Amino acid sequence: MRIVFLGPPGSGKGTQAKRLGQKLAVPQLSTGDLLRSAVRGGTELGREAKNYMDAGRLVPDHLVTQLILNRMQQKDCADGFILDGFPRTKVQAEALEKALKVNRIPIDVVIDFDIAEKVLVERLTGRRVCPNGHGEWHIKFRSSVLSGFCDVCRALLIQREDDQESKIKTRMEQYRKDTEPLKKFYEARKLLRRIGATGNPAEITAQIEAALPQPPPAPAP
Ligand code: AP5
Repeated sequence: MRIVFLGPPGSGKGTQAKRLGQKLAVPQLSTGDLLRSAVRGGTELGREAKNYMDAGRLVPDHLVTQLILNRMQQKDCADGFILDGFPRTKVQAEALEKALKVNRIPIDVVIDFDIAEKVLVERLTGRRVCPNGHGEWHIKFRSSVLSGFCDVCRALLIQREDDQESKIKTRMEQYRKDTEPLKKFYEARKLLRRIGATGNPAEITAQIEAALPQPPPAPAP
């Protein structure tokens, strides 16, 4: 199944993509994770993307689109994937649609994460991440075993540059201006399903599962 997760920063797209990806045995394709990995690796793309990301602004369409379309060519995507954080602009949505049309593999469903802004701010400002990319924790909702340190490599956990309150404001502005209009784009294609993204992660996963299209019944013997 090919699924798009659409939602504001901190709405739980990444958390849910991991949970659902495991259940459906399809990979989570996160543009944020791919870009952060390029930044850590010091690649040309990473150097170009870093300033945009640190400021909470969107990375230019052509860079992100190429990155994700290349990732989608990999073998593990043959049976489907969950797009987490892509598309975020109309240009990206059209590029995705075009690429999938060529291969005759349309998107099955777009899940729209509905959540109040004050919940997002608490989630994002309290997030702490491993500087070596080993995962993320939260000062209120999920502390590491070695409080303040990465459970895998023991590095001191840090706050993402774009999780500072002033940057969250910019991210929200970008979301409203560029990404929110995609709801209409996908509504027009009858692909959009809205879920409430507040509550515990298991309840939210159950809502997403209920919103997935059901496979056609097996033919009678
Ligand atoms: P990205 O990393 O994708 O950031 P984002 O969309 O702002 O997403 P987040 O990871 O902050 O939030 P999320 O919705 O995934 O929630 P999560 O599960 O992590 O992108 C970063 C940057 O990269 C962008 O700003 C941009 O610069 C660039 N970029 C990426 N894609 C791009 C694109 N397509 N085009 C252009 N530029 C692009 O949860 C957040 C926190 O909440 C965590 O601490 C989590 O533990 C906690 N949490 C989650 N669910 C719950 C719950 N149910 N209850 C309590 N806490 C919860």
